Order: sequence, then structure tokens, then C-alpha cells
Amino acid sequence: MTHQAIAVMASGRGTNLAAILEAASKGYCPVDVRVVISNKVDAPALRIARDAGVETVLFINPKDYQDRAAYDKACADIIEKADCQWIVLAGYMRILSSFFVNHFLNCIINIHPSLLPAFAGADGVGNALAYGVKVAGCTVHLVNEEVDGGAILAQAVVPVLDDDDRESLHQRIQAEEYQLYPQTLCRMIEQGFSTHERRITWNQS
Ligand code: GRF
Repeated sequence: MTHQAIAVMASGRGTNLAAILEAASKGYCPVDVRVVISNKVDAPALRIARDAGVETVLFINPKDYQDRAAYDKACADIIEKADCQWIVLAGYMRILSSFFVNHFLNCIINIHPSLLPAFAGADGVGNALAYGVKVAGCTVHLVNEEVDGGAILAQAVVPVLDDDDRESLHQRIQAEEYQLYPQTLCRMIEQGFSTHERRITWNQS
């Protein structure tokens, strides 16, 4: 199976990026992480990418661009120049412009720390805990113009324990994310899928 090139966009710690890089280097996930872009100068994700030897690692400063579309156009140019097939959002805390989403339609994926469609938005873990759900989890989904609203590719479930706080629950969810994100990427590349309205169907092997 030939590897496919991906671009990762990350704003924070980059532990999902690290999980993808590790899966790729161990041969579990047929991707070549060719580009890593961050909108935060001090994002640890940038150092993780540099340490792993990713070819193009860039902080792109939103303040240097007139608006969201101009910023996203600059990112799109870099991603296209590097010939990436997939764009993987890994803790990317910026809303994407409709230009970007439609330009790369069905080629952008995100991981969200809740069982969507429940608890979309910035505090999925805290909101699930406050609501009192007994199971939580994470969702890998295609990105459309609605925040956390694209078609669902995969989900994993974890229990919510009585003494959980946001941090302990998020940790349990993240342990699942580190498995689910590389596995889903691998399946997308090796098996392929088609979309029928909101439903994803995996190709027959
Ligand atoms: C993850 O929990 C992911 O679900 C959410 O943002 C967090 C990113 O964590 N979208 P990290 O930067 O990969 O450590």
C-alpha cells in the first residue's frame, strides 16, 4: 500500500499528532506527515513535528492576514504545494473559512472529544460531565461548514466514573483518541469510503 501525504493543523499540545507520527513510523498507518501548520507560535505540536523531522513545519500568524479566508488561502497554498491528500485537524482551535472547507471537501478530518452529535463545541468534555452522561468518548468526522458537524467516520466509547473531573475524563478519552485517529486514517487510505448524505459507507475489501 502506498503512503499518502497528509498535512496536520494543530494549535496545542499535539499529542494526537505525536500518536499519528508514531503509528506512521512503526508502519501501522500508511501516511507521510509532510506538513504541520499551527496558528500558535508556542504550540508544543510544532516542536513535536520538528523533532520527528517533518519536512514543512510552520507557525502562520493570523495577525499577518486581513481575514480568515486570506489566512486559510495561505495555508491551502502550502498544503497544495506539498501535494497532501488529507488534512488532519488535531486540536486546531480555529474555525475554518467556507473557502477552505469547500476547497478540500471530504478531505479534511477532525477528532472531537465527545460522542457527536452530543456536546459539539469548545468544551465537549466539560459539557458531557456537567450533563451527567455515563458514557463519553471521541468522534472522528469529516469537516464541513458546521462546527463538529460533518459525517462521522468512527467513534470510541469510554465510561464516565463517579469521581471524574474534566481532566481525568479527558485523559481517558485521549487514550482512545491515540488509537482511533491513526486507525481511522489507515482505514480511509487502505479501504476507502463513500458518503451518502450523512452516512459513511466503508468500501468492500
Ligand atoms: C483532543 O482532545 C481533540 O479531541 C480535540 O483537541 C484535543 C487536542 O489534543 N479536538 P492534542 O493537542 O492532540 O493533545
